[in-house]
Amino acid sequence: MKSKKRIFLVAGARPNFMKIAPIYNEMKKSKKLKPVIVHTGQHYDKNMSLIFFRELGLPKPHIYLGVGSGSHAVQTAKIMVEFEKVCLEGKPDMVLVVGDVNSTLACSVVASKLLIPIAHIEAGLRSFDRAMPEEINRIVTDSLSDYLFTTCRDANKNLEREGVKPNKIFFTGNVMIDSLKKFIVKAEKRKTFRRLSLKDGEYALLTLHRPSNVDDKATLEKILKTIAKISKKTKIIFPAHPRTKKQVEKYKLKKYLRGGNIEVIEPVGYLDALNLMKHSKFVLTDSGGMQEETTVLGVPCITMRENTERPITVTQGTSTLVGNNPVKITRVVNQILNGKYNKGKIPELWDGKSARRIVKIIEAKV
Ligand code: UD1
Repeated sequence: MKSKKRIFLVAGARPNFMKIAPIYNEMKKSKKLKPVIVHTGQHYDKNMSLIFFRELGLPKPHIYLGVGSGSHAVQTAKIMVEFEKVCLEGKPDMVLVVGDVNSTLACSVVASKLLIPIAHIEAGLRSFDRAMPEEINRIVTDSLSDYLFTTCRDANKNLEREGVKPNKIFFTGNVMIDSLKKFIVKAEKRKTFRRLSLKDGEYALLTLHRPSNVDDKATLEKILKTIAKISKKTKIIFPAHPRTKKQVEKYKLKKYLRGGNIEVIEPVGYLDALNLMKHSKFVLTDSGGMQEETTVLGVPCITMRENTERPITVTQGTSTLVGNNPVKITRVVNQILNGKYNKGKIPELWDGKSARRIVKIIEAKV
């Protein structure tokens, strides 16, 4: 019998783990493919990484690069150096990358120079804002990829406009929603919101981590002031990202989070995050993934960004872009509290079967 084709599944940061999980599980069933999980170590805190592996039922990473934090250049370079070694040693038949984090970019560059075919999951998303580090990661990764798997038809158009040959592009849906559908029942059983003494549908879930929102003092202060005002109308639960926590301390802005109606907690795992999202009145966030998850859960999402690479969550889903403008944020909060917010619909192929479609295509190609 022929030996199986080895596929390196690269994951590095929190939003990657729920994307590789369904692909890993599907590939494990394949007679032709052998999935090998490579964790770059871009995220390394227990509650930013390990908890996700446990909850998603993933095995310990087969290969751990342990690169940790650093400037973009340092982090990207370290990942490249380490990933090149494991590629030379492990000789994968394909490198599969997901999303748009520094690990995605670094591993694609390495694979392309070693002439290893690259599959990119979540290809073709564009915010058209090159001030976002993720936009650079998306453009470079897509330009190097051999198989581009997309979550929506807009992404196919973006890729075709950039000159990618249509026969390299596959509209297969959203793997993140595969995980959501698989784990929502388990997440419900955890009763997270009750344990935090929150009432069903009577609180807002806040997450904030983008450099454009948290790295500049005046911007972060403006956002936190607005949040403090909103908390007078509704309880807010805030699992704070390590980057944000650091910035709040550095700029001495804790005072805005001290009002009794805001609760700051450590970052939560995947199941608690799903539970908190599902039972919230609304979500206030700058996360791309949560725009997608709230769309499927039917929960209003006030997106604190000027633009999005996921416009379908605005045109079809439950997301409204408000930037960091206090007037816009407050207006949408009031709309929701007054019951005047539109329910969205679930985008095409966000049906829980994307990984199956992707693995079938990869089986046919390698
Ligand atoms: C990264 C991704 C971003 C994604 C986000 C999800 C890039 C360019 N950005 O941003 O697209 O939305 O992950 O969280 O890849 N830190 C810890 N512990 C950790 C990880 C990070 O303390 O486990 C702290 C470090 O101080 C680090 C900072 O958070 O410097 C930022 O981490 P980094 O991975 O550089 O970027 P994120 O902001 O997490």
